[in-house]
Amino acid sequence: TNDTADLAGEIRRMCREKDAVIMAHYYTRKEIQDVADFIGDSLALAQKAAQTDAQIIVMCGVHFMAETCKILCPDKLVLCPDLNAGCSLADSCRAEDLKKYKDEHPGYKVVSYVNTTAAVKAITDVVVTSGNAKKIIDTFPQDEKIIFGPDYNLGSYINSVTGRNMLLWNGGCHVHERFSVDAIVKLKKENPDAKVLAHPECKGPVLAVADVIGSTAVLLKYATENSSGRYIVATEAGILHEMQRKCPETEFIAVPPEISEGSVGCSCNECEYMKMNTLNKVYNCLKYEWPSVDVPEDVAREAVKSIERMLELS
Ligand code: 13P
Ligand code: SF4
Repeated sequence: TNDTADLAGEIRRMCREKDAVIMAHYYTRKEIQDVADFIGDSLALAQKAAQTDAQIIVMCGVHFMAETCKILCPDKLVLCPDLNAGCSLADSCRAEDLKKYKDEHPGYKVVSYVNTTAAVKAITDVVVTSGNAKKIIDTFPQDEKIIFGPDYNLGSYINSVTGRNMLLWNGGCHVHERFSVDAIVKLKKENPDAKVLAHPECKGPVLAVADVIGSTAVLLKYATENSSGRYIVATEAGILHEMQRKCPETEFIAVPPEISEGSVGCSCNECEYMKMNTLNKVYNCLKYEWPSVDVPEDVAREAVKSIERMLELS
């Protein structure tokens, strides 16, 4: 609509005036992805944040992504359009609980998924994303004792592809855990030639029927390089916008979530936290340069080590 175009135009004007860049995760609304300077998965967003020269970074994603950005760019102003944009996965691992578990397991290295709070990263040896987890775990000696958290499904998948036996935290992402294998099997029967693309945060049975397992960027790359195929996509539906933009002729079928009878609340294949980023909020946060995300210095000093180790190894 005209309103959307006007708002997007104003946002771009403010970015030039204030030397700001907008970064957006693939799961955000399409109009946010369209107005952003850079879109990516969590690894690419962290790498980009480490490199940018801009004075202001508007991180359209969820809170831990803005924290990661701030830790890597302490001198920049990092804005987060809605501070309520949390993450059920990051919430599933409190720093005090991880600290206790670490104390109970001396000699173990702690590997944490990027979907964690800064406080968790501060007591982590190395951070990973779904895009580099295998590569980074492979750098450890085969007999290294490792605690992996908080995503149980990703950890279990990495255990299976590396032949390791890492201790797994029992956390999960409520969006990815909703995908049902029954829905995929049904879609596969209706579309036998379609390949199943799944994010490793999905449950084991879903991964067992997937043809390609990977981070959002890996799935996108696969579809782009094999655009003559048809795809059944088991990850947050926001990614379909970029898939369809890059491969306009290709058919992408979003997997509907499992809706149990009598279920209440949101039962969609979208992350409501990611969808909290709206054009209006981006406009306001740029205009008022608020709200910003800050990380206490002592936490940032420790957390930066585990993030930088990841960037070096990936
Ligand atoms: P990636 O961006 O690493 O694929 O992770 C998906 C996710 O759930 C981000 O919150
Ligand atoms: Fe967190 Fe899941 Fe949302 Fe990603 S999709 S931000 S892991 S709740």
